[in-house]
Amino acid sequence: MPTLAVYPGSFDPLTNGHVDIISRGARLFDRIIVAILVNAEKAPLFSMAERVEIARAVFKELPNVEVDTFEGLLVDYVERRNAQVIVRGLRAVSDFEFEFQMALMNRRLNGQIETVFMMPAEQYSYISSRLIKEVFSLGGRVHGLVPDMVEERLRGKVGRP
Ligand code: PNS
Repeated sequence: MPTLAVYPGSFDPLTNGHVDIISRGARLFDRIIVAILVNAEKAPLFSMAERVEIARAVFKELPNVEVDTFEGLLVDYVERRNAQVIVRGLRAVSDFEFEFQMALMNRRLNGQIETVFMMPAEQYSYISSRLIKEVFSLGGRVHGLVPDMVEERLRGKVGRP
């Protein structure tokens, strides 16, 4: 049976750390679905349509990467999609506690679904969407940390050259 994985998140915005995990996942699993959570934050910087558009553009060359949105419980979405695996990235030990809680709660909710943790390349281990937005809005450089398309869109939003 082909192994289908779901990589869930807010992706506000997609970073090169996410891109790294998705690319690794696409090599490991038959298919990986990038599942963007609807309404994760009350005021996201990137609209849902933009986040979907960006992820689809970045992965247009990888046929086994699909981009979708979901609402409600993650395990229900994973089951609906007939997937077997949830992929989460672990950057540092500090991620572990919350990720461990989520993985065990998801296992309690649906014992058929396994969570698989993957580490991004070291050069992305300190990147988060929140830090990208903060650094860019305060005038810092984020080049190389996010896809070029995200950098362009950030310029448009924050009004920097
Ligand atoms: O990018 P994020 O914010 O780290 O992603 C968090 C996400 C989307 C994986 C998590 O909030 C989630 O799964 N939300 C859906 C609701 C749900 O299932 N909650 C219980 C998780 S144990």
